[in-house]
Amino acid sequence: MSERSAAPVGAEVLVASNRGPVSYGLAEDGTLTAKRGGGGLVSGLSAIGPDADAVWVCAALGEGDREAVRRTGGALDPADTGGQRVRMLDIPAEVQAAAYNGIANSVLWFVHHMLYQTPLEPAFDAEFRDRWAAYESYNRAFARALADEAAEGAAVLVQDYHLSLVPGVLRELRPDVRIAHFSHTPWAPPEYFRILPDDIAGQLLRGMLGADRLGFLTHRWADAFRACCAEAVGGIGDTVIGVHGLGADAGFLRERSGRPDVDERLAALREQIGTAPDGTPRRTVVRVDRTELSKNIVRGLLAYRELLADRPEWRERVVHLAFAYPSRQDLAVYREYTAEVGRLAEEINAEYGTDRWQPVVLHVKDDFARSLAAYRLADVALVNPIRDGMNLVAKEIPVISEQGCALVLSREAGAHEELGDAALTVNPYDIVGTARALDAALSMEAGERRERTARLAAAATALPPAQWFLDQLQALRETTPKRATS
Ligand code: G6P
Repeated sequence: MSERSAAPVGAEVLVASNRGPVSYGLAEDGTLTAKRGGGGLVSGLSAIGPDADAVWVCAALGEGDREAVRRTGGALDPADTGGQRVRMLDIPAEVQAAAYNGIANSVLWFVHHMLYQTPLEPAFDAEFRDRWAAYESYNRAFARALADEAAEGAAVLVQDYHLSLVPGVLRELRPDVRIAHFSHTPWAPPEYFRILPDDIAGQLLRGMLGADRLGFLTHRWADAFRACCAEAVGGIGDTVIGVHGLGADAGFLRERSGRPDVDERLAALREQIGTAPDGTPRRTVVRVDRTELSKNIVRGLLAYRELLADRPEWRERVVHLAFAYPSRQDLAVYREYTAEVGRLAEEINAEYGTDRWQPVVLHVKDDFARSLAAYRLADVALVNPIRDGMNLVAKEIPVISEQGCALVLSREAGAHEELGDAALTVNPYDIVGTARALDAALSMEAGERRERTARLAAAATALPPAQWFLDQLQALRETTPKRATS
């Protein structure tokens, strides 16, 4: 038990992110179940642990979350959060939806990942301006909550594109605190970033530059940000930029992947994969993603189909385990993409499948233990995003793959900066090129595969999440706060 009194104490360290470390499901009988969140952001930040002086501020994202806020006043039960102090904000649902779906996920995500591709998108019309107003108000709500919770001189670490304006607003409210902002996404080069209306682009950049320190996952994204600032707002001023390439948590992965629930799923997957005509276990090409446009799952399936067409010797001898977990289903384009992934997997199975062999095994129900089981038995990992801030899957699979896996990796993933030397690099748009890389990966001799896997695992775990977080906290504390220099 903490010896602190129950009276509210200003926190010395604050983290703010749109999605928090837990989300709540609400059953019909009113029972709330807390589910721990996944993804790079949450794994990186879980390192703050149950520190009495740290508070994590996040938003209620669904009905279960809202109910949890109603019952707790927003200070979540530490039993649900692994001891972490979490303050969940109940921002009006229509503001939250417009800011999250309407701006963060449909505009900023699309700009940073360079995803616009139809003649009608983007549409920066009057409705967009309304959604932008909601995004501003969403960011103000976070800034106010942080201002309320922060102790004098506290360190505040704001996360990601949902909260780009928070640093600027918070600086006005609390000039005494030190502020960092970290981008978990890529950053678009000026030629693309320029599609945003000029006033919005300026507001966004100036909002982030309200921070003392800005963090990015790779040098490439940091350089793009600097270039956008040089073009749109005359540079980054006295803001410091740091690059922190979040790594995989080897200790956690090894321990978690050795548990009985993972063993069980491994046995079930082996059964499903079956054996080749010569009696040896079939080879596996594994991918695990949110069903996300930027992850390029459809082209991955097309490349696999191309492999089966062009290299018939692999038929019956390989299975593609494609785990694609539905994401952002409030957006029509994501729903359509999810359906397209399902259709294509069926098509490939209908075209090439036999009584004994299912070429693609698609799983859409998010099951962490099963993902880890697939990591363990991967012969080839396919990570081919169009663009990706980092991509932790590329870093996690080599750490626990049992017989060493060849990594087919997009040159547009942030992880490529660290793993490119030991991976098979692909241009994510090039379907034939990706099929050839899959062929090379499947054909790779065992010795070479193990040697490359060892190099991948070493690079992938160079900056484990706890260190990633503490480095940034330390760097922020060493930064001279802006108020002292202005
Ligand atoms: C990316 C973003 C995170 C986000 C995650 C899941 O990794 O950088 O901020 O939480 O995707 O997306 P979601 O919209 O479900 O939060």
